[in-house]
Amino acid sequence: MKDEDSIALITGGARGIGRATALAYARKGCHVAIADLHDDDAQGVVEEIERIGQRALYLHCDVSDSDSVASMMTGVKQEFGQLDYACNNAGIEGDQAPTADSSLENFDRVMAVNLRGLFICMGEELALMLERGKGSIINVASIAGLIGFPKLPAYCASKGGVVQLTRTAAIEYAEQGIRINAVCPGAVQTEMIDRITGKKADVVEQFRNMHPMKRMATPEEVANTIVWLSCKEASFITGQAIAVDGGYVAA
Ligand SMILES: NC(=O)c1ccc[n+]([C@@H]2O[C@H](COP(=O)([O-])OP(=O)(O)OC[C@H]3O[C@@H](n4cnc5c(N)ncnc54)[C@H](O)[C@@H]3O)[C@@H](O)[C@H]2O)c1
Repeated sequence: MKDEDSIALITGGARGIGRATALAYARKGCHVAIADLHDDDAQGVVEEIERIGQRALYLHCDVSDSDSVASMMTGVKQEFGQLDYACNNAGIEGDQAPTADSSLENFDRVMAVNLRGLFICMGEELALMLERGKGSIINVASIAGLIGFPKLPAYCASKGGVVQLTRTAAIEYAEQGIRINAVCPGAVQTEMIDRITGKKADVVEQFRNMHPMKRMATPEEVANTIVWLSCKEASFITGQAIAVDGGYVAA
């Protein structure tokens, strides 16, 4: 089902899952705004969206900074005047160390981007969506928000928080026509997973094999779920955290 001329916003849209999601929304017929820190990569995504035939807007934004998010949303409002879909995808993995060896600085940084940043973005997005009494938000959590992973305590805590923020906001705004869901990917072939595995063959193999499907996801597989879950096809689904994980959590 095409979704002509709706407006989609994706944070962290310059790379990885965010880039694939921006392109998937454009193919669905949406005009797309992306927010990120990487201006060059973002410009490349803007050009790809325009080649698909849709309008595209890039806004430099640090999601952990409330002023930056406010001016990003002003940019969306000025360019498009409305917001139909928002995908809060920007995130970082932080350092890898067991809890007792993890620095407070790392904990604060990961929480600031993944949880506080997402909270700031959701607040701004909801305000714009409430003006029209419709909209749909997808938060990118992780299977690390559903189960524990050694050496990623801040990341797991932040993603668990994203799942709970999603459930809470979903029930708060259900009557006002706004659906809010989360996706929880397993390992996805992006630069983030390259950083986590260090591209070491044995570690990559281990990551593949931890999924019952014996492989990682492509960014497009996660993007397709995000677009489906946000659009009319999923119109009675809200407050869910959907694993896109090749069976990992089921096992
Ligand atoms: N790759 C995986 O295996 C995996 C698995 C589960 C969940 N996720 C989640 O999916 C999301 C996307 O991950 P990815 O793998 O595409 O990562 P990535 O590192 O490839 O891309 C992340 C994007 O977010 C942007 N970003 C980071 N911090 C930002 C900030 N403060 N403000 C604005 N933009 C910022 C980056 O510039 C980059 O473009 C993240 O939330 C991540 O936690 C990833």
